[in-house]
Amino acid sequence: MFILSVTLNNRHIASIPFTSRSNLFNLLAVYDHTRIRSACQGRGTCGQCLVRIDQGGASELTHYEYERLNASQIARDIRLACQVTLFDHASVTLINPLAIEALDTISIHPFMPSANARYAVAVDLGSTQLRMSLWDYVNQHRVAGYCGFNPQAYYGTDILNRLTAATTDKTKGSVMSELIQDTIERVVTEWINAKNVHITEILIVGNTAMLALLANKHTEQLLQPAYWTHSIDCSLNFSTLRQTQIPVAAVQPVAGFVGSDLLVGLLAARLTQSPGSALFIDFGTNTEIALWHQDKLWLTSVPGGPAFEGCGISYGIAAEQGAISHVNYDAGTGEFHGALIGTLIDTSEIKGLCGSGLCDVMACLLASGQLKKNGRFAKADSELEIELVNLHYRVTVKKQDIDIFQRAKAATGAGIAKLLALAEVSSADLTRLCIAGSFGQFLNIQHAQAIGLLPDCAHERVELCGNAALMGCEQLLSSHNRDEQLNELKRKVEVVNLSQVIDYEEAFVDNLYLQPILLN
Ligand code: FES
Repeated sequence: MFILSVTLNNRHIASIPFTSRSNLFNLLAVYDHTRIRSACQGRGTCGQCLVRIDQGGASELTHYEYERLNASQIARDIRLACQVTLFDHASVTLINPLAIEALDTISIHPFMPSANARYAVAVDLGSTQLRMSLWDYVNQHRVAGYCGFNPQAYYGTDILNRLTAATTDKTKGSVMSELIQDTIERVVTEWINAKNVHITEILIVGNTAMLALLANKHTEQLLQPAYWTHSIDCSLNFSTLRQTQIPVAAVQPVAGFVGSDLLVGLLAARLTQSPGSALFIDFGTNTEIALWHQDKLWLTSVPGGPAFEGCGISYGIAAEQGAISHVNYDAGTGEFHGALIGTLIDTSEIKGLCGSGLCDVMACLLASGQLKKNGRFAKADSELEIELVNLHYRVTVKKQDIDIFQRAKAATGAGIAKLLALAEVSSADLTRLCIAGSFGQFLNIQHAQAIGLLPDCAHERVELCGNAALMGCEQLLSSHNRDEQLNELKRKVEVVNLSQVIDYEEAFVDNLYLQPILLN
């Protein structure tokens, strides 16, 4: 019998016994599957399952690790857990665990339940995050909030892996659904206990894949492109939560790739009330794009990929405490500067670049002449190190990071370009450019436009909408004609499947270049 000793933040957190040669990722997953981060379910491609081998007998580095890890990580014995086989007692430190506690925040604003108040719960079920609010739907204000990680992340930080897991193994499908139900119930119970409020209903919005996983049905359809433009039944086969017995329902998505989060986000942004043409972008693993033009709502979705959430990127991290969210380049001094999410005590708490920071790095490397528009380094290097002087922190950018980023941004840029072309709208016609989602909140608009992630549009027309999906869900809770409001919006919808738009591939290739979006 061997023992694996696990450390997190200088604290011993587990001793895991194992009998023979064992895969480190599997051992950690069995101990506490919420801690080890993975977007590829152990295939060695996402670079998320970082650990440091402090002691013990471990297998040699694999070619996946040589691809994903930089020289300094290798020198510090940092490994990808999924690539390590242990054959003796070992001690490891978790380097990139899912920071469940860091994000698991429940806030209750000071309030006294009033006689005429009525409470309901709005839920925005995202692939990465789960956001909830306790909503006084008579007085129309939020009295409590919750933000946490989607606990299904162990089954893959990306949608595809989770859908595949649920489709191929029914038990995993049930577990994923229950994980969400349990998290919602835990938060709701805490609110009830804290304020002794009576909650009349829970309303859930989300992208189609998340709703299908919650309903635990039709996940196999979402793996087939033929169904992406079809409506998918995501109605829940349970009508209440298990313990609290509060009625629960999900707002049905429009199509396989157009979720109800987008639909209600458009309600919150009042996109269809815009004067002239308006574009709405909700960045995420799947970036959803809506264009309002002449009484028609053009909707599409592109695989932004998990790159905007830091997955697959050498120094990538989700937008959480300790992430570098902003990077700037000072042409006068030639220095790079960074800004962080949260307040840290010392630099050892810096975790890496989140999506907006990565976007800034690309724009800054271009501006400094170290990167060419085609994504090649100016010098014949395979990686580049930049120092964020104010943070005393060095970031390594590898060629493959740039490739992943280029593909994600090209998909988004081409999606925007094609939607505008189909509706015959030019970027100059846009009276509003609405950006939703947490990625959008940190985005440097100028940098995003320079590298082609956002269309050219006067800055006074750009609106940061925050979590429009949760706000839209709250609006529906207060609405007297919920179904009518949704149906009216759906009647204006034109779903665009970009894979069937003739020159989308061409637009994708054109937009691989790090330059303003090419519209044609
Ligand atoms: S889980 Fe190890 S690289 Fe993805």
